[in-house]
Amino acid sequence: REQVPFDGVHQAGIVTAAPQEAIFIAFDVLARNREQLAALFRQLTERIRFLTRGGPAPVGDARLPPMDSGVMGAEIVPDGLTITVAVGATLFDARFGLEARKPRHLVHMEAFPNDALDAGWCDGDLLLQCCAHSRETVIHAVRDIIKHMPDKLAPRWKMDGFLPASAVRSGSTPINLFGFKDGTGNPSTGDDKLMDDMVWVGSKDQEPDWAAGGSYMAVRLIRFLLEQWDRTPLGEQQTDFGRDKASGAPLGRKAEFDDPGFAADPDGKGVPLDSHMRRAEPRRHGRHDARLLRRSYSYSAGLTRSGQLDMGLVFVSFQANLQTGFIDTQKRLDREPLEEYIKPFGGGYFFVLPGVSAREGLGEGLLR
Ligand code: HEM
Repeated sequence: REQVPFDGVHQAGIVTAAPQEAIFIAFDVLARNREQLAALFRQLTERIRFLTRGGPAPVGDARLPPMDSGVMGAEIVPDGLTITVAVGATLFDARFGLEARKPRHLVHMEAFPNDALDAGWCDGDLLLQCCAHSRETVIHAVRDIIKHMPDKLAPRWKMDGFLPASAVRSGSTPINLFGFKDGTGNPSTGDDKLMDDMVWVGSKDQEPDWAAGGSYMAVRLIRFLLEQWDRTPLGEQQTDFGRDKASGAPLGRKAEFDDPGFAADPDGKGVPLDSHMRRAEPRRHGRHDARLLRRSYSYSAGLTRSGQLDMGLVFVSFQANLQTGFIDTQKRLDREPLEEYIKPFGGGYFFVLPGVSAREGLGEGLLR
């Protein structure tokens, strides 16, 4: 029944613990002017406030379509639901006169060398990240929003995500579909100062005033070539990541959170120079060269057209600066050995709106 507060300086769903289930859904905005966009944000604020707080499912007139899908029964429980709202670069165009208000790093996601981007799986004016403890809760939330806003939002792409139940229950690092612990090297979300520095936009960032308290969100839909991976020797799997598969320890070390000791190993005898962890986070300028917080989910979605498992990762990172966060890190990863087993095909760059209060709803600062 857990309720994650919707109100706050920052939106929920970023530094709050990641529950087991997620839906990522991007929309094209159908609003045609600023007034209609303001109405969209007002209604979205109202729906999210209701859904995250819970309460009796509204009952209506039997001659009309039901007011609630009913999939959660008579009582809608909060169930740890968070709905995080982010906007894409395309929202800042002439339709709404927002060109001058765009966060300065918010751009269209261009393909990296190993990408095979499919336009139908990319971008969007608006992105919702819905997370909760159970699948029916995120489905109920998405259906509620779509039902209430057909004149305002047209779905563009959607991907379901999940985390292993055992890791969520015990608070240990979730294991991804390659079988590796994923998230070990993340900065601590309990460290407010570090989060202000790396995740939240603030006065240090020279962004438009309205953007303070927001964050850049990079989403990458990454297919894993699992049939190939599952025929790859354990030793190679481990050198690709730079970590021991079972313990998550940096190669040559004992425990998951041990320091990899890069300074004492300039040739990469322990953790190879080419490995994912060492390229992503070379620790050349202290602990966090990769200035981002990862909050990814696994996905599993049927078969590809060639009959292979369509599974992988909804990679998600939050950062105060998209360039020094996701983009620079991805550039260090370009041509990593792991690319043999991964194919990014979708996602986009978004900006998470600042948080809400009883007085100020989503997007109000942006439109003021
Ligand atoms: C570390 C998996 C994509 C950035 C790791 C680790 C694993 C992993 C298993 C080691 C454990 C950990 O520290 O979390 C994957 C997979 C990916 C992927 C399967 C997709 C195919 C990316 C991307 C980025 C990224 C796209 C950013 C551009 C990082 C960073 C670390 C890391 C910063 C931390 C390294 C450290 O602190 O030592 N990743 N990752 N990863 N990854 Fe990824």
